[in-house]
Amino acid sequence: MNLSELTFDREGLAAAIACEDPAFEAELCEEAYRVKLANVGKEVYLRGLIEISNICVKDCLYCGIRKDIHCQRYELSEDEVLASARLAAQRRFGSVVIQGGERTDPAFVRKITRLLKAIKEIEPAEDGDRPLGITLSLGEQPREVYEEWFDAGAHRYLLRIESSNPDLYHKIHPEDQLHSYDRRIRALYDLKAIGYQAGTGAMIGLPFQTAGDMADDLLFYKEFDAPMVGMGPYNPHPDTPLTLSGIGYPSAERRFALGLKMIALLRLLMPDINIASATALEVMDPLGRERGILSGANVIMPNITPEEQMVKYNLYDRKTIRSDINTLLSQITIGYGKWGDSKHCSAQHHT
Ligand code: 5AD
Repeated sequence: MNLSELTFDREGLAAAIACEDPAFEAELCEEAYRVKLANVGKEVYLRGLIEISNICVKDCLYCGIRKDIHCQRYELSEDEVLASARLAAQRRFGSVVIQGGERTDPAFVRKITRLLKAIKEIEPAEDGDRPLGITLSLGEQPREVYEEWFDAGAHRYLLRIESSNPDLYHKIHPEDQLHSYDRRIRALYDLKAIGYQAGTGAMIGLPFQTAGDMADDLLFYKEFDAPMVGMGPYNPHPDTPLTLSGIGYPSAERRFALGLKMIALLRLLMPDINIASATALEVMDPLGRERGILSGANVIMPNITPEEQMVKYNLYDRKTIRSDINTLLSQITIGYGKWGDSKHCSAQHHT
């Protein structure tokens, strides 16, 4: 296959995803990087990632912090979260992401609300910088909670669909009301209706997943009109039911190549959105996130969780997580001190 044969319908995308020719994959990533430069420019935006807690009410079959797994649980104190956010401001990251296991208990909800207000009070490091932008990634919540957090200062929310195929979704989650595909979709539309920039994404290279499923994931992002997407390769965690079931999945090399290829295809499909170069890429290759950028992504989320706790946020086997960015790659220019909102949103909703 070559680039001139690529079409953006389900069949064309699936053919591109299934094609394992390294020359085609390289050509596709280079083209996506050109499209990134033309549409969202050279700058890459940083979001300091704060992993607030690995306590979770959900039991997703692939996840290393699922409710039923045995691991050491932690929760950052408000002071620890604020110290990390101050670090992000000092380093002029422009914004932070607060991510954690899903919890809906009132104490947790109120804590997030207090933190949002306190983070908004942190002084920017330099004149001209805005106060930190805040993205939340705290799972499915009742609409009122999303509203409370929006009013307290969060303006972006990440909620992956994990897989846009309801059958596959139900194969990788327990079958109960807490893990309902329809509820997840509803949460995404709630976020959008409230006014968040609602980002989504899926895992790449899952057991049972076909090229057609991955093509559908891309078409789902387009249909949802997602201003931002964060997707990354599936990394099997040794102690999860999905890994223990012994069901096969693509090799690490293939999942990495698929991760880059999905970024590239999405950049061609949605030229002006924000696309994150996922942490999961970095775990597979020390320069994985930088390679994501060179395949069309424009957002990196350096991990700024205090180190002692970071090692416990073990969604999958994470050996090396860095909080620095390899700017040796001359192509990468960092948009310091900026929120780096999706151009897609500003084009549509603001003047
Ligand atoms: N491999 C890759 N990604 C994973 N996530 C959870 N477990 C894994 C895994 N084993 C991702 C999910 C979730 C995000 C926070 O981490 O997509 O949305």
